[in-house]
Amino acid sequence: SDFPRILALESSCDDTGAAVLAGGRLLSNVVATQKVHEQYGGVVPELASRAHQQHLLPVVTAALRDAGLTKNDLDVVAVTQGPGLLGSLLVGGMFAKTLALALGKPIIMVNHMRAHILAHFLGRPVPTFPFLCLTVSGGHTQLVVVRSALDMEVIGQTIDDAAGEAFDKTAKLLGLPYPGGPHLDRLAQQGDPRRFAFPVGAMAGYDFSFSGLKTAVLYFLKKETAKNPDFVAENLADLCAGIQHTIITTLLRQLRRAVAATGLTQVALAGGVAANSGLRTAVHAEAAAQGWQVFIPALAFCTDNAAMVAQAAHFQFLAGDFATQLASPDPRLKL
Ligand code: KG4
Ligand code: ZN
Repeated sequence: SDFPRILALESSCDDTGAAVLAGGRLLSNVVATQKVHEQYGGVVPELASRAHQQHLLPVVTAALRDAGLTKNDLDVVAVTQGPGLLGSLLVGGMFAKTLALALGKPIIMVNHMRAHILAHFLGRPVPTFPFLCLTVSGGHTQLVVVRSALDMEVIGQTIDDAAGEAFDKTAKLLGLPYPGGPHLDRLAQQGDPRRFAFPVGAMAGYDFSFSGLKTAVLYFLKKETAKNPDFVAENLADLCAGIQHTIITTLLRQLRRAVAATGLTQVALAGGVAANSGLRTAVHAEAAAQGWQVFIPALAFCTDNAAMVAQAAHFQFLAGDFATQLASPDPRLKL
């Protein structure tokens, strides 16, 4: 059966997404990425809201067309409630509420961080509950025990910068374009990760800290470029490899601890940083050594997208978890 037919919207940061999921099957998934932020070296919230307003209708129209449906075929409209940028969430939230009201259909409000995790159910193989998920994106770094689609617990998180932020901010120090994560990843593949050592943020338990790395890289580069102005250019690949190695070491150390403490050996990665080739290799190597089973969604389901929002909404629909027209965005929504 293709029931329920869900249209889901995602507008929490700088990607505008719409997707249609029918009877648990993904029929379409459209994302418009905002280019406007590149020239500023980071997401500018006001410009993000404006771009969502321009992109939403074309993206929704494309998602319905790709799915071969019209708006009247929909059973429910789902949208990201938070966490994220308030202005961006408001644009998607208002669009969803208005559409649902016009169609006389219910609304489902989705937690963006839960959606990142539930993206694993869009493809194969699917982890079985309970499992451990490391969510690593530009805005978040969380270790989560996932007991069911509706029951999750954060056991560790970053106390300062997110893993993606650590990639982007250090990449910026190296003069790479924004967002720097993918560039740093590509360059690191040609570099020697042992040549430059940076401190691993030492945190008790399962928490993370990445702001020290950014500061360490900043002062190291200042010192070296004072002696040799071409230092960065001459050592770019090795610098990238060293930084990436430090971030991965930090992530893996806490992941290892969490596996040991919970006994959960199904390890899932989620979020944009799950695209990092070094992290994938390291987690797969660790899995082979420790007997873990690793799950990494397809890249399109790792970065921000509406398909994962639709998947989360599917589980909420089955549980009868609907919102009302009174629902509003929550930029700091907790998992
Ligand atoms: O999940 P996502 O698309 O958006 C957020 O919700 O934040 O994650 C974006 C983050 C950015 O920081 C980006 O630099 C990082 O993911 N990223 C990567 C790679 N691809 C994306 N970081 C390291 N290596 C990559 N290959
Ligand atoms: Zn995200």
